[in-house]
Amino acid sequence: LDNGLALTPPMGWLSWERFRCNTDCKNDPDNCISENLFKTMADHIVSEGYKDAGYEYVNIDDCWLSHERDAQGRLQADPDRFPSGIKALADYIHDKGLKFGIYEDIGTHTCGGYPGVEYYFQQDAQQFADWGVDFVKLDGCYIDSKEFDTAYPAFGHWMNKTGRHMVYSCSWPAYQSGHMTPDYPSIAKYCNLWRNYGDIQDSWDSVQDIITWFGKDAGNFSAVTGPGAWNDPDMLIIGDYGLSIDQQKAQMAMWAMMAAPLIMSTDLRNIRPESKAILQNKGVIAINQDPMGKMGKVVYTQSNVQLWSRPILPEGSVAFAYLYTGTGGTPSHIQDVVTNAGLTSSRGYNVTCAFTGKHIGYFKPTDKFDLHVDPTGVFLGIAKIF
Ligand code: DGJ
Repeated sequence: LDNGLALTPPMGWLSWERFRCNTDCKNDPDNCISENLFKTMADHIVSEGYKDAGYEYVNIDDCWLSHERDAQGRLQADPDRFPSGIKALADYIHDKGLKFGIYEDIGTHTCGGYPGVEYYFQQDAQQFADWGVDFVKLDGCYIDSKEFDTAYPAFGHWMNKTGRHMVYSCSWPAYQSGHMTPDYPSIAKYCNLWRNYGDIQDSWDSVQDIITWFGKDAGNFSAVTGPGAWNDPDMLIIGDYGLSIDQQKAQMAMWAMMAAPLIMSTDLRNIRPESKAILQNKGVIAINQDPMGKMGKVVYTQSNVQLWSRPILPEGSVAFAYLYTGTGGTPSHIQDVVTNAGLTSSRGYNVTCAFTGKHIGYFKPTDKFDLHVDPTGVFLGIAKIF
Protein backbone atom coordinates (compact mmCIF):
# COMPACT_ATOMS: atom_id res chain seq x y z
CA LEU A 1 0.00 0.00 0.00
CA ASP A 2 1.51 3.22 -1.15
CA ASN A 3 0.63 5.41 1.85
CA GLY A 4 4.19 6.36 2.78
CA LEU A 5 4.20 3.95 5.74
CA ALA A 6 6.06 0.73 6.53
CA LEU A 7 8.80 1.43 4.01
CA THR A 8 10.75 -1.29 5.80
CA PRO A 9 9.09 -4.20 7.64
CA PRO A 10 7.35 -2.87 10.78
CA MET A 11 8.98 -3.74 14.11
CA GLY A 12 7.13 -3.93 17.40
CA TRP A 13 5.37 -5.98 20.01
CA LEU A 14 1.97 -7.69 19.94
CA SER A 15 0.14 -9.43 22.76
CA TRP A 16 -1.46 -12.41 21.05
CA GLU A 17 0.99 -15.31 20.89
CA ARG A 18 2.25 -14.92 24.44
CA PHE A 19 -0.75 -13.46 26.29
CA ARG A 20 -3.68 -14.70 24.18
CA CYS A 21 -7.19 -13.91 25.41
CA ASN A 22 -6.42 -13.84 29.11
CA THR A 23 -9.12 -11.56 30.52
CA ASP A 24 -8.86 -12.76 34.12
CA CYS A 25 -7.43 -9.65 35.75
CA LYS A 26 -8.80 -10.71 39.12
CA ASN A 27 -6.65 -13.79 39.42
CA ASP A 28 -3.87 -12.95 37.00
CA PRO A 29 -3.48 -9.17 37.07
CA ASP A 30 0.04 -9.14 35.62
CA ASN A 31 -0.74 -11.20 32.55
CA CYS A 32 -4.27 -10.29 31.56
CA ILE A 33 -5.10 -8.15 28.50
CA SER A 34 -5.28 -4.76 30.19
CA GLU A 35 -3.88 -1.25 29.87
CA ASN A 36 -1.25 -2.15 32.45
CA LEU A 37 0.18 -4.91 30.28
CA PHE A 38 0.67 -2.59 27.30
CA LYS A 39 2.06 0.22 29.43
CA THR A 40 4.54 -2.13 31.06
CA MET A 41 5.66 -3.51 27.72
CA ALA A 42 6.07 0.01 26.34
CA ASP A 43 8.22 0.85 29.39
CA HIS A 44 10.43 -2.16 28.76
CA ILE A 45 10.72 -1.52 25.03
CA VAL A 46 12.28 1.82 25.90
CA SER A 47 14.30 0.94 29.01
CA GLU A 48 15.67 -2.37 27.75
CA GLY A 49 17.00 -1.13 24.43
CA TYR A 50 14.35 -2.52 22.07
CA LYS A 51 13.35 0.94 20.89
CA ASP A 52 16.96 1.78 20.08
CA ALA A 53 17.17 -1.50 18.14
CA GLY A 54 14.23 -0.37 15.99
CA TYR A 55 11.11 -1.78 17.68
CA GLU A 56 8.47 0.87 17.48
CA TYR A 57 4.87 -0.39 17.62
CA VAL A 58 3.10 -1.52 20.78
CA ASN A 59 0.07 -3.40 19.53
CA ILE A 60 -3.05 -4.74 21.17
CA ASP A 61 -4.51 -7.96 19.79
CA ASP A 62 -7.90 -9.58 20.43
CA CYS A 63 -9.96 -9.37 23.64
CA TRP A 64 -9.54 -5.68 24.49
CA LEU A 65 -13.14 -4.81 23.69
CA SER A 66 -16.29 -4.61 25.67
CA HIS A 67 -18.85 -7.14 24.47
CA GLU A 68 -21.24 -4.33 23.51
CA ARG A 69 -20.86 -1.08 21.57
CA ASP A 70 -21.94 2.03 23.48
CA ALA A 71 -25.32 3.78 23.05
CA GLN A 72 -23.97 5.70 20.00
CA GLY A 73 -22.77 2.46 18.45
CA ARG A 74 -19.13 3.23 19.22
CA LEU A 75 -16.55 0.60 20.02
CA GLN A 76 -15.42 0.70 23.61
CA ALA A 77 -12.65 -1.02 25.54
CA ASP A 78 -13.51 -3.27 28.44
CA PRO A 79 -13.94 -0.73 31.25
CA ASP A 80 -12.48 -2.91 34.00
CA ARG A 81 -9.33 -3.81 32.14
CA PHE A 82 -8.84 -0.46 30.36
CA PRO A 83 -10.20 1.98 32.96
CA SER A 84 -8.36 4.99 31.46
CA GLY A 85 -9.62 4.23 27.95
CA ILE A 86 -7.82 3.69 24.67
CA LYS A 87 -6.99 7.35 24.02
CA ALA A 88 -5.09 7.58 27.31
CA LEU A 89 -3.20 4.39 26.50
CA ALA A 90 -2.27 5.72 23.06
CA ASP A 91 -1.06 8.96 24.67
CA TYR A 92 1.04 7.04 27.16
CA ILE A 93 2.70 5.05 24.38
CA HIS A 94 3.22 8.16 22.22
CA ASP A 95 4.84 9.97 25.14
CA LYS A 96 7.48 7.24 25.16
CA GLY A 97 8.26 7.97 21.53
CA LEU A 98 6.55 4.75 20.42
CA LYS A 99 3.57 4.04 18.18
CA PHE A 100 0.30 2.41 19.07
CA GLY A 101 -1.52 -0.40 17.29
CA ILE A 102 -4.97 -1.86 17.71
CA TYR A 103 -6.81 -5.01 16.62
CA GLU A 104 -10.19 -5.48 15.04
CA ASP A 105 -11.93 -7.89 12.70
CA ILE A 106 -13.54 -7.27 9.32
CA GLY A 107 -16.47 -9.58 10.14
CA THR A 108 -19.33 -9.29 12.59
CA HIS A 109 -17.14 -10.47 15.48
CA THR A 110 -13.47 -10.81 16.33
CA CYS A 111 -12.19 -14.38 16.51
CA GLY A 112 -12.54 -14.10 20.28
CA GLY A 113 -16.23 -13.15 19.95
CA TYR A 114 -16.09 -9.36 20.52
CA PRO A 115 -17.80 -6.85 18.20
CA GLY A 116 -16.31 -6.70 14.69
CA VAL A 117 -16.29 -3.74 12.31
CA GLU A 118 -18.77 -5.10 9.75
CA TYR A 119 -21.52 -2.46 9.10
CA TYR A 120 -19.43 0.15 10.98
CA PHE A 121 -16.43 0.71 8.67
CA GLN A 122 -16.54 4.49 8.52
CA GLN A 123 -17.36 5.01 12.17
CA ASP A 124 -14.74 2.59 13.45
CA ALA A 125 -11.97 3.85 11.17
CA GLN A 126 -12.72 7.37 12.44
CA GLN A 127 -12.74 6.11 16.03
CA PHE A 128 -9.26 4.64 15.59
CA ALA A 129 -8.01 7.92 14.14
CA ASP A 130 -9.58 9.88 17.01
CA TRP A 131 -7.90 7.65 19.56
CA GLY A 132 -4.50 8.19 17.94
CA VAL A 133 -4.03 4.72 16.51
CA ASP A 134 -0.98 4.24 14.25
CA PHE A 135 -1.44 0.62 13.18
CA VAL A 136 -4.57 -1.43 12.59
CA LYS A 137 -4.53 -5.23 12.44
CA LEU A 138 -7.77 -6.35 10.85
CA ASP A 139 -8.51 -10.04 11.37
CA GLY A 140 -10.80 -12.17 9.18
CA CYS A 141 -13.17 -14.18 11.38
CA TYR A 142 -16.98 -14.20 11.07
CA ILE A 143 -17.25 -13.24 7.41
CA ASP A 144 -17.16 -15.20 4.15
CA SER A 145 -13.60 -14.88 2.86
CA LYS A 146 -14.98 -14.40 -0.66
CA GLU A 147 -16.02 -10.92 0.50
CA PHE A 148 -12.45 -9.97 1.42
CA ASP A 149 -11.56 -8.68 -2.04
CA THR A 150 -14.04 -5.85 -1.57
CA ALA A 151 -14.24 -5.57 2.23
CA TYR A 152 -10.52 -5.06 2.99
CA PRO A 153 -10.14 -2.30 0.36
CA ALA A 154 -13.34 -0.67 1.67
CA PHE A 155 -12.10 -0.46 5.24
CA GLY A 156 -8.77 0.84 3.94
CA HIS A 157 -10.68 3.54 2.06
CA TRP A 158 -12.26 4.76 5.29
CA MET A 159 -8.95 4.62 7.13
CA ASN A 160 -7.47 6.79 4.42
CA LYS A 161 -10.40 9.23 4.60
CA THR A 162 -9.63 9.97 8.24
CA GLY A 163 -6.40 11.66 7.17
CA ARG A 164 -4.47 9.91 9.95
CA HIS A 165 -1.45 7.84 8.95
CA MET A 166 -2.20 4.29 10.02
CA VAL A 167 -0.37 1.14 8.97
CA TYR A 168 -2.87 -1.38 7.62
CA SER A 169 -2.31 -5.04 8.52
CA CYS A 170 -4.71 -7.43 6.79
CA SER A 171 -5.46 -11.09 7.39
CA TRP A 172 -6.94 -11.27 3.89
CA PRO A 173 -4.88 -14.11 2.32
CA ALA A 174 -4.52 -16.08 5.57
CA TYR A 175 -8.16 -17.11 5.44
CA GLN A 176 -8.13 -17.72 1.67
CA SER A 177 -4.99 -19.86 1.35
CA GLY A 178 -6.04 -23.47 1.09
CA HIS A 179 -9.32 -23.01 -0.77
CA MET A 180 -8.64 -20.20 -3.25
CA THR A 181 -5.66 -18.34 -4.65
CA PRO A 182 -5.25 -14.97 -2.95
CA ASP A 183 -5.01 -12.01 -5.27
CA TYR A 184 -1.60 -10.87 -4.05
CA PRO A 185 -1.17 -7.86 -6.37
CA SER A 186 -4.45 -6.48 -5.09
CA ILE A 187 -3.61 -7.30 -1.45
CA ALA A 188 -0.28 -5.47 -1.83
CA LYS A 189 -2.09 -2.49 -3.31
CA TYR A 190 -4.49 -2.14 -0.37
CA CYS A 191 -2.50 -3.36 2.67
CA ASN A 192 0.89 -2.56 4.18
CA LEU A 193 1.29 -6.09 5.48
CA TRP A 194 -0.79 -9.21 5.44
CA ARG A 195 -0.85 -12.53 7.23
CA ASN A 196 -0.58 -15.25 4.57
CA TYR A 197 -0.81 -18.36 6.66
CA GLY A 198 -1.99 -19.95 9.92
CA ASP A 199 -1.17 -18.78 13.43
CA ILE A 200 2.25 -19.36 14.89
CA GLN A 201 2.37 -21.55 18.01
CA ASP A 202 5.11 -21.81 20.61
CA SER A 203 7.07 -24.65 19.01
CA TRP A 204 9.85 -25.36 16.53
CA ASP A 205 7.41 -27.49 14.51
CA SER A 206 5.28 -24.42 13.98
CA VAL A 207 8.24 -22.21 13.02
CA GLN A 208 9.57 -24.84 10.64
CA ASP A 209 6.16 -25.36 9.06
CA ILE A 210 5.84 -21.62 8.44
CA ILE A 211 9.32 -21.38 6.89
CA THR A 212 8.56 -24.35 4.62
CA TRP A 213 5.26 -22.83 3.54
CA PHE A 214 6.78 -19.43 2.78
CA GLY A 215 9.66 -21.10 0.92
CA LYS A 216 7.17 -22.57 -1.54
CA ASP A 217 5.99 -19.07 -2.45
CA ALA A 218 2.66 -20.38 -3.80
CA GLY A 219 0.93 -17.57 -5.68
CA ASN A 220 4.29 -15.82 -6.11
CA PHE A 221 3.81 -13.47 -3.17
CA SER A 222 7.54 -12.76 -3.02
CA ALA A 223 7.11 -10.73 -6.21
CA VAL A 224 4.77 -8.16 -4.63
CA THR A 225 6.98 -7.61 -1.56
CA GLY A 226 8.67 -4.27 -1.15
CA PRO A 227 8.52 -0.91 0.64
CA GLY A 228 4.98 -0.52 2.01
CA ALA A 229 3.98 -4.14 1.25
CA TRP A 230 5.08 -7.10 3.36
CA ASN A 231 4.19 -10.75 3.77
CA ASP A 232 3.68 -11.52 7.44
CA PRO A 233 4.63 -15.02 8.62
CA ASP A 234 3.37 -14.02 12.09
CA MET A 235 4.95 -13.03 15.40
CA LEU A 236 8.42 -13.76 16.74
CA ILE A 237 8.21 -16.29 19.59
CA ILE A 238 11.80 -15.66 20.67
CA GLY A 239 11.96 -15.49 24.47
CA ASP A 240 8.96 -17.77 24.98
CA TYR A 241 8.86 -21.42 26.06
CA GLY A 242 9.13 -23.49 22.91
CA LEU A 243 12.45 -22.80 21.17
CA SER A 244 16.08 -23.64 21.93
CA ILE A 245 18.64 -20.86 21.49
CA ASP A 246 19.60 -22.21 18.05
CA GLN A 247 15.94 -22.30 17.05
CA GLN A 248 15.39 -18.74 18.26
CA LYS A 249 18.32 -17.62 16.13
CA ALA A 250 16.87 -19.58 13.23
CA GLN A 251 13.52 -17.83 13.55
CA MET A 252 15.17 -14.40 13.70
CA ALA A 253 17.40 -15.24 10.73
CA MET A 254 14.60 -16.58 8.56
CA TRP A 255 12.29 -13.66 9.36
CA ALA A 256 15.17 -11.42 8.23
CA MET A 257 15.53 -13.42 5.02
CA MET A 258 11.78 -13.16 4.36
CA ALA A 259 11.71 -9.38 4.93
CA ALA A 260 9.04 -10.16 7.51
CA PRO A 261 7.61 -7.77 10.08
CA LEU A 262 9.51 -8.24 13.36
CA ILE A 263 6.65 -8.30 15.83
CA MET A 264 7.72 -9.80 19.14
CA SER A 265 5.24 -11.59 21.36
CA THR A 266 7.08 -12.34 24.54
CA ASP A 267 7.18 -11.24 28.15
CA LEU A 268 9.80 -8.49 28.13
CA ARG A 269 9.72 -8.35 31.94
CA ASN A 270 11.56 -11.62 32.39
CA ILE A 271 13.20 -12.52 29.11
CA ARG A 272 16.59 -14.27 29.21
CA PRO A 273 19.62 -12.24 28.12
CA GLU A 274 20.36 -14.64 25.22
CA SER A 275 16.88 -14.15 23.77
CA LYS A 276 17.04 -10.41 24.21
CA ALA A 277 20.39 -10.35 22.39
CA ILE A 278 18.88 -12.31 19.48
CA LEU A 279 15.93 -9.90 19.23
CA GLN A 280 18.28 -6.92 19.29
CA ASN A 281 20.99 -8.29 17.00
CA LYS A 282 22.07 -5.42 14.77
CA GLY A 283 23.43 -7.48 11.89
CA VAL A 284 20.28 -9.54 11.53
CA ILE A 285 17.97 -6.54 11.90
CA ALA A 286 19.97 -4.73 9.20
CA ILE A 287 19.22 -7.56 6.75
CA ASN A 288 15.54 -7.51 7.72
CA GLN A 289 15.36 -3.74 7.29
CA ASP A 290 17.27 -3.57 4.02
CA PRO A 291 15.80 -0.57 2.13
CA MET A 292 15.29 -2.48 -1.14
CA GLY A 293 12.84 -4.73 0.68
CA LYS A 294 13.34 -7.79 -1.52
CA MET A 295 12.06 -11.03 -0.04
CA GLY A 296 14.55 -13.91 0.08
CA LYS A 297 13.87 -17.13 -1.80
CA VAL A 298 14.73 -20.78 -1.41
CA VAL A 299 17.61 -21.83 -3.66
CA TYR A 300 17.48 -25.52 -2.80
CA THR A 301 16.44 -28.03 -0.17
CA GLN A 302 18.62 -31.13 0.17
CA SER A 303 19.49 -33.53 3.01
CA ASN A 304 17.83 -31.40 5.67
CA VAL A 305 19.63 -28.26 4.51
CA GLN A 306 17.69 -25.42 3.01
CA LEU A 307 19.56 -22.56 1.37
CA TRP A 308 17.91 -19.13 1.09
CA SER A 309 19.30 -16.07 -0.66
CA ARG A 310 18.20 -12.44 -0.62
CA PRO A 311 19.58 -9.40 -2.48
CA ILE A 312 20.56 -6.50 -0.20
CA LEU A 313 22.29 -3.16 -0.54
CA PRO A 314 24.88 -2.13 -1.57
CA GLU A 315 23.65 -3.30 -4.97
CA GLY A 316 25.02 -6.72 -5.85
CA SER A 317 25.36 -7.84 -2.22
CA VAL A 318 23.43 -10.76 -0.78
CA ALA A 319 22.31 -12.20 2.51
CA PHE A 320 22.16 -15.98 2.64
CA ALA A 321 21.01 -18.55 5.15
CA TYR A 322 21.80 -22.23 5.48
CA LEU A 323 19.03 -23.65 7.63
CA TYR A 324 19.73 -27.14 8.92
CA THR A 325 16.58 -28.92 10.02
CA GLY A 326 18.26 -32.20 10.92
CA THR A 327 17.94 -33.50 14.47
CA GLY A 328 20.76 -36.04 14.32
CA GLY A 329 22.55 -34.33 17.20
CA THR A 330 25.69 -33.16 15.49
CA PRO A 331 26.25 -30.08 13.34
CA SER A 332 26.04 -30.38 9.58
CA HIS A 333 29.32 -29.76 7.76
CA ILE A 334 28.38 -27.70 4.73
CA GLN A 335 30.78 -27.40 1.81
CA ASP A 336 28.98 -25.61 -0.94
CA VAL A 337 29.96 -23.55 -3.97
CA VAL A 338 29.32 -19.90 -3.14
CA THR A 339 27.48 -19.28 -6.42
CA ASN A 340 24.57 -21.31 -4.98
CA ALA A 341 24.09 -18.61 -2.36
CA GLY A 342 24.10 -15.95 -5.08
CA LEU A 343 27.77 -14.93 -4.94
CA THR A 344 28.16 -14.88 -8.70
CA SER A 345 30.11 -11.68 -9.42
CA SER A 346 33.78 -11.98 -10.36
CA ARG A 347 34.41 -8.87 -8.24
CA GLY A 348 34.25 -11.07 -5.17
CA TYR A 349 32.64 -10.70 -1.76
CA ASN A 350 33.53 -9.96 1.82
CA VAL A 351 31.52 -12.41 3.92
CA THR A 352 30.65 -11.99 7.59
CA CYS A 353 28.45 -13.88 10.01
CA ALA A 354 25.36 -11.72 10.57
CA PHE A 355 24.97 -12.74 14.22
CA THR A 356 28.57 -12.27 15.41
CA GLY A 357 29.98 -9.89 12.81
CA LYS A 358 32.87 -12.36 12.51
CA HIS A 359 34.77 -12.20 9.24
CA ILE A 360 34.36 -15.48 7.35
CA GLY A 361 36.51 -14.67 4.35
CA TYR A 362 36.84 -13.16 0.88
CA PHE A 363 35.13 -15.24 -1.75
CA LYS A 364 35.26 -15.46 -5.54
CA PRO A 365 32.56 -17.37 -7.45
CA THR A 366 34.87 -20.38 -7.84
CA ASP A 367 35.26 -20.70 -4.05
CA LYS A 368 33.42 -22.89 -1.59
CA PHE A 369 31.97 -22.23 1.84
CA ASP A 370 33.09 -24.50 4.64
CA LEU A 371 30.58 -24.05 7.45
CA HIS A 372 29.17 -25.92 10.42
CA VAL A 373 25.49 -25.47 11.20
CA ASP A 374 23.91 -26.71 14.42
CA PRO A 375 20.89 -29.03 14.31
CA THR A 376 17.69 -26.97 13.94
CA GLY A 377 19.95 -23.98 13.54
CA VAL A 378 21.12 -21.59 10.92
CA PHE A 379 24.14 -19.89 9.45
CA LEU A 380 23.20 -16.41 8.34
CA GLY A 381 25.79 -14.69 6.19
CA ILE A 382 26.19 -11.22 4.76
CA ALA A 383 28.13 -11.12 1.49
CA LYS A 384 29.09 -7.55 0.59
CA ILE A 385 30.28 -7.10 -2.96
CA PHE A 386 33.73 -5.56 -3.52
C1 DGJ B 1 -6.42 -15.08 14.50
C2 DGJ B 1 -5.16 -14.33 14.17
O1 DGJ B 1 -4.49 -14.96 13.11
C3 DGJ B 1 -4.27 -14.26 15.41
O2 DGJ B 1 -3.05 -13.62 15.10
C4 DGJ B 1 -4.99 -13.55 16.51
O3 DGJ B 1 -5.21 -12.21 16.13
C5 DGJ B 1 -6.30 -14.24 16.81
N1 DGJ B 1 -7.09 -14.43 15.62
C6 DGJ B 1 -7.11 -13.46 17.82
O4 DGJ B 1 -8.35 -14.00 18.04
